[in-house]
Amino acid sequence: MSTPQGGIFALGTSSHAYLEFDLREGVAEEALASALAGLREPRTTMGGVNLVMGFRPTLWRALQPDAMPEAIEDFDRDVVGPDDFTMPATQHDAVVWLSGSAYDVIFDMSLGVIRALGSVASVADETASWPYHHDLDLTGFIDGTENPTLIDAADIVLIPDGSAGAGGTILLLQKWRHDAATWTSLPVERREHVIGRRLADSTELEDKPDDSHVARTDQDVFGKIFRRNTPYGTVLDHGTMFVGFAAEQRPLSAMLQSMAGSTNGTRDALTRYTTPLTGAYYFVPSARDLRVDGNEG
Ligand code: HEM
Repeated sequence: MSTPQGGIFALGTSSHAYLEFDLREGVAEEALASALAGLREPRTTMGGVNLVMGFRPTLWRALQPDAMPEAIEDFDRDVVGPDDFTMPATQHDAVVWLSGSAYDVIFDMSLGVIRALGSVASVADETASWPYHHDLDLTGFIDGTENPTLIDAADIVLIPDGSAGAGGTILLLQKWRHDAATWTSLPVERREHVIGRRLADSTELEDKPDDSHVARTDQDVFGKIFRRNTPYGTVLDHGTMFVGFAAEQRPLSAMLQSMAGSTNGTRDALTRYTTPLTGAYYFVPSARDLRVDGNEG
């Protein structure tokens, strides 16, 4: 059984950082892969940091063509709906997602990661995130209700043994900024229709509208994914870091198309109150495939 990067499944962490990197000019892609493969979380039984590392799909394919499925594409084109609603493509070369018990260790480790990669890659985007009242998104709704449990998540997320890239997974990382003033001015009932679930307990609405978020991302239609979303930002400027994993790219890309209204002309109502600022896909190789240069740590 191929061993995945464990941080994908590390629940209950109260502090997160997402660092996206671009290769420096003139630096070989191998050097970036090697620098990432050399990163190690602090060796401690408590207060540690989980690292999840991913690569621009075409970069990883160039380095290890046999260690990933053929069909995975970069987020290299904006997703544009019929009314010109746009999800921007902001693909970078690599991502490191750090999660841990508190922001002090995440801060220190992020500094260490940026330093370790400094000669090969520059930081293109940094987002710090934190849980809001345990399991709420900053819209106030419970996020993750329809997530698989950890027992089932591995089967949904990981490329199966025997396939190229076994133990790896595809990550969609997308930062959404909420229009909090407009959202909170809506009556609760309207907000519930936008999401398709009750605010208080996340019960699915029996008569959920076709443009509700859960209708536009229905996993019975598009396939199953595993979400590790986190709230980010400040009182005046905040939103959701969408962090979605799947063993195939299609469920993720099909959900984006559906949210934009390209599937049946119906745009996700949630997109009228929150704006996608970034969008990138990363291939997250298995722990073994990550050690491209035999760097065993
Ligand atoms: C601002 C961005 C987003 C927010 C605030 C948000 C929030 C939520 C909430 C509150 C739910 C209902 C409870 C649950 O099952 O977790 C939900 C469901 C879901 N969301 Fe999102 N979401 C966002 C973006 C996305 C994106 C970009 C995708 C896919 C690419 C996505 C995929 C899903 C899926 C698959 C479900 C479960 C649908 C089902 O019932 O089968 N979400 N989301």
